[in-house]
Amino acid sequence: MPRRGRTERFMIGVFDSGLGGLTVLRKLADRFPDVSFCYLGDHANVPYGNRPSETIVEFTRLGVEALFERGVRLVLLGCNTATAVAAKRLQQSWLPYSGWAGHNVLGIVAPTVEAATQTPWAVTTPQYPQKFNSDLIAVFGTTRTITSEVYPEEIRKRCPRVEVIQQICANLAGAIEDEAGREELSGLVKEGVDALLEQTLGTIPDRAILGCTHFPLVEDLFRKHLPSSTRLLSQPDLVADSLEDYLARRPQYLGGYHPEPRMLLMLTTGDADEISNRARVFWPEVPPFESIEIGFQSSQQQSR
Ligand code: DGL
Repeated sequence: MPRRGRTERFMIGVFDSGLGGLTVLRKLADRFPDVSFCYLGDHANVPYGNRPSETIVEFTRLGVEALFERGVRLVLLGCNTATAVAAKRLQQSWLPYSGWAGHNVLGIVAPTVEAATQTPWAVTTPQYPQKFNSDLIAVFGTTRTITSEVYPEEIRKRCPRVEVIQQICANLAGAIEDEAGREELSGLVKEGVDALLEQTLGTIPDRAILGCTHFPLVEDLFRKHLPSSTRLLSQPDLVADSLEDYLARRPQYLGGYHPEPRMLLMLTTGDADEISNRARVFWPEVPPFESIEIGFQSSQQQSR
């Protein structure tokens, strides 16, 4: 029998402004033990959450392109801010004209909305059985994610009678990146939860979306400060489920058989040693990061 040639195996890219996307990558690495991943954290520019939308679109585009240049065909934006502000723009106005044929970018809002509404993303009218007819859903996120209104709009399209109350946690992702102490983090989470409950006039949310991938790193603090009956939707799990389904339908993004062990390539626009040490605090087995320079490092000063 002729020996089968070694075919190319593609990596899946995961992009975030910093460490938050690791909450997603870690779950994906567990769920897909044979799939290679390339992670890029834009630590030179984190946090994104309070930046102008145009800056976020440009940083995200450059990050995605840096991953494409390293052999990635499919990039998952492991970042709600980048998804809310940039995903559609990149998918519709950049990718088709970029010269990266056969490549794609996915966001993480869709799987979250699907889970929150129990309705497939493709259904954009309230024709589906309205399982969560009159629930109250809380969404916590960065300034830009919340002001984009993406969560309330997409949820209400599918479940118009569901009430969505949003709360900006403007400084939480930055504090997590800066390794703030537990007390400070707990204070910031409590501030967000209290402000949300003030908006609901005390009505207890049925479910809460932690709409920032940094927030699962303080999920226990959300659990502590939210009413005990509020169910937390875990984005890393939802994203892993959704990617599994997507790759089953689009196996071309994985490439062919490859005999070598899978690879986890960790990239940062920040200082590799520092980021490796910080990442190990919550993911002890994470491989060391490598520093890369991309276009946005030169633009960071003017955009801050
Ligand atoms: N982890 C990101 C998110 O999901 C970004 C946070 C930030 O950089 O402000 O929104």
